[in-house]
Amino acid sequence: MTRERTATVHSAETSAPRPRRFTASGPLTGRIRVPGDKSISHRSIMLGALAVGRTRVTGLLEGEDVMATAAAMRAMGASIERLPDGAKGVEWVIDGVGVGGLMQPRTALDMGNSGTSTRLLMGLLASHPLTATFIGDASLSKRPMGRVIEPLSQMGADFTAAPGGRLPLTLRGISPAVPISYRLPIASAQVKSAVLLAGLNTAGTTTVIEPVPTRDHSERMLKGFGADLTVEVASDGTRTIHLTGDAELRPQTIEVPGDPSSAAFFVVAALLVPGSDLVIENVGLNPTRAALFGVLRDMGGHIEELGRRDVGGEPVADLRVRHSALTGIEVDPAVVPSMVDEFPVLFVAAALASGRTVTTGLEELRVKESDRIAVMRAALEQAGASVTETEDGLIIDGTGGEPLRGSNNAPVATHLDHRIAMSMAVAGLASRGGVEVDDTRPIATSFPAFEALLAEASGQ
Ligand code: S3P
Repeated sequence: MTRERTATVHSAETSAPRPRRFTASGPLTGRIRVPGDKSISHRSIMLGALAVGRTRVTGLLEGEDVMATAAAMRAMGASIERLPDGAKGVEWVIDGVGVGGLMQPRTALDMGNSGTSTRLLMGLLASHPLTATFIGDASLSKRPMGRVIEPLSQMGADFTAAPGGRLPLTLRGISPAVPISYRLPIASAQVKSAVLLAGLNTAGTTTVIEPVPTRDHSERMLKGFGADLTVEVASDGTRTIHLTGDAELRPQTIEVPGDPSSAAFFVVAALLVPGSDLVIENVGLNPTRAALFGVLRDMGGHIEELGRRDVGGEPVADLRVRHSALTGIEVDPAVVPSMVDEFPVLFVAAALASGRTVTTGLEELRVKESDRIAVMRAALEQAGASVTETEDGLIIDGTGGEPLRGSNNAPVATHLDHRIAMSMAVAGLASRGGVEVDDTRPIATSFPAFEALLAEASGQ
């Protein structure tokens, strides 16, 4: 069996920008498979690295963000290897150090572009007696970390951060840490997960109260690894999660389902390009992730679920998507957490729909890899769409199916944000003159095969 190590490479930091014009394509047809879920991939590596024994993972997303998590866990003592010819194809094997067993990293932990790696690892390290410095790229270094610094400080960890609670940041963890009960002030699965992961190596019960439900992969996977975790759901939907610490995690065999956030680009592309009839196989449909598909159906999109099944404790189906005439809608802000990463591509669908689409409650989009409200407003306007920016969303008057004009001579600015690049690539398919994206390198953070798969599906 051949073994390889995959080094962390943040391509958007180490090479020149790679602009590309995306132009109108033939219909998207056939069957494709998108890579593994990013959230589940990060957690597979982190929890595998904390279990006692060998965890095996298939379908892991081999994007730069997940590789940043893997490099950090290796730097703290876990063994993580890629077996290209495992029993089920590519398999990742992780030999964990046990909860509490992380070692002092010798150099700064380079988080690249990845907010999930940073915030979840800050939680994990907070209850270990070690000091670690987190660094990241220009996009990550603008993002707020105060949201995790606050609860983790209550647990006893100490932080020195750049102004505004940003990277570079040095964490001094503590053991024993103090178990806390923390009510999330913002709907964030990253904050919830950071506190729960800190709770793993903390004696007593750590509690997170979540007034608005967010993605629940941490809860599902912690239980799968044998942690003592319970969830109570109140009549108003508030979720209270209790985790008893000093846990011993049991290694698992994990099959990572396809990422609905990656499938989203192909779903919208197939809806927009006339003649398309595309099947996207093995898409994760966890209800805390899949709201986009319901919203697109409400807009008139033909999206069928085929062969609903369970993969690794997560609901999964193949999605058959056909070209559809879309109608603008008002998106209920209650669904925002369940499609928080999908708004950039929803905005593209809205720009081609007939009538007006109104989105509200999107404040959190301003602190993602870029300010996705302002950046998508500028990019779509440049491509010829009619867009109004509000404090917490966009109002878009669609073309009624007519292609967008295209970006003419100036490229749209993606600000090191993979989802802006992929969304505007989809807009290019539905344009007369094509859309030039200033830099496609960030796509490798979450979906390295995006351009190849797009070419395959659209016969280019
Ligand atoms: C993620 C949670 C979300 C999401 C991110 C991944 C996770 O962030 O935007 O891409 O894996 O927990 P927030 O929890 O900050 O909204």
